[in-house]
Amino acid sequence: MTKPKLVFNPYSQEYFDDPYEIYARMRDEAPIYYDEDGDFYAITRHADVAAALKDHESFSSSRGCNLSMVKSSEPPQKSIIFMDPPDHRHMRSLLNKAFTPRAIQSQHQTVTELVEHYLSQADPDNFDVVQDFSGPFPVEVITRMAGVPEDYRQQVRHWIDKGLEVKPGQIELSEENMAANIDSGIYYYSLVQERRQDPQDDMISRLIAAEIPGEDGEMRRLDDIEITAFTSLLGGAGAETVTKLVGSAVVEFARNPDQWQMLLDDRSLVPAAVEELLRYVGPVQYNVRYTLKEAELPNGTIPAHKPVFILQAAANRDPRAFDNAEAFDITRDRSQAQNLGLGYGIHSCLGAALARLESVIALEHLLDYMPRFEVDFDGLQRVHMQNVAGYHHVPVRVLK
Ligand code: HEM
Repeated sequence: MTKPKLVFNPYSQEYFDDPYEIYARMRDEAPIYYDEDGDFYAITRHADVAAALKDHESFSSSRGCNLSMVKSSEPPQKSIIFMDPPDHRHMRSLLNKAFTPRAIQSQHQTVTELVEHYLSQADPDNFDVVQDFSGPFPVEVITRMAGVPEDYRQQVRHWIDKGLEVKPGQIELSEENMAANIDSGIYYYSLVQERRQDPQDDMISRLIAAEIPGEDGEMRRLDDIEITAFTSLLGGAGAETVTKLVGSAVVEFARNPDQWQMLLDDRSLVPAAVEELLRYVGPVQYNVRYTLKEAELPNGTIPAHKPVFILQAAANRDPRAFDNAEAFDITRDRSQAQNLGLGYGIHSCLGAALARLESVIALEHLLDYMPRFEVDFDGLQRVHMQNVAGYHHVPVRVLK
């Protein structure tokens, strides 16, 4: 029997249901995949993805990170993730100061308290890991760091969810997506203005006071739009991703109970488990870049001026890079190849230390809360979003 034609459609139901089978075929049959209808490229092999993420001179971030943004004639918000050097370098060195290892370690207590708070409210007979736990806590951490007042912290998450949600087949932003993005933009903008009048000990106030080199080389302050763009990005980057990693973790451990038992027996394995989750079910599936010039990759060439899906999630399961790549194994040898789950190169995750801290604390507490559990696999619901994958509902019953 001949196989159906290989089609990579990141907006299709088939893709949302299980992208990994499609990735395997792309890696084997079309490592430099070209889609004629959409006039875009997609790369899936580890060697190509790592090389492209390193080559920011050919693969530009400045048009956005998904297909509709990159194809649009409108430039995206001036946010770090959509910048190329030298602007990116200036912004990154400014923001690095807010994410030093010490600054992140100082969040340990807050993260622990929030994790404990949400678990104490959960019903063990009817526990939805995402809705009751991994959805609400990360957004509290990051919005608190940014300086969002308590009453609005969960609202930020609902705006992000609505802003990213896509219906199968939908490529352009819907009215609902835009309305959510506008509402959250207006909210952050007014918060920035409040902080200008009345600075607090928070990230927004520190960004207001900070300076970066301008185009003329003179130091300048960030404007309200730039600070709004960064704080909105932080909400999305810092909340949605950890939510999905922890939700997917519970599903993978239900499928691999021996590995959950290993963690119960030896908690020092939890950080390694987080690394394996980032490789195996890392929430960020891809970022789309735009080629500024013809780009040479180990497995082929991509012409100039094309959108390119850089599929970290596919590369992370490339058997050319990892032994037994399609197996979930928290004890695997991590020195084999670069894990791309938190990105690579100049845009690699700014919040990596916070992402790891939150995920480790969440898993440690879940081990206590549900040493034995069952996932209701029929009740699992995946998200339908651009760039990220994971579950919206992970219903669990904690066993006595
Ligand atoms: C499991 C959780 C997370 C995952 C899987 C993840 C993944 C990623 C990836 C793959 C990138 C690279 C994007 C690119 O190449 O264009 C990235 C960038 C970024 N992440 Fe994360 N992230 C996570 C958590 C966080 C957290 C908690 C924060 C906030 C504190 C954060 C803030 C950012 C920012 C600001 C960038 C842009 C950096 C730049 O453009 O230089 N992320 N993240």
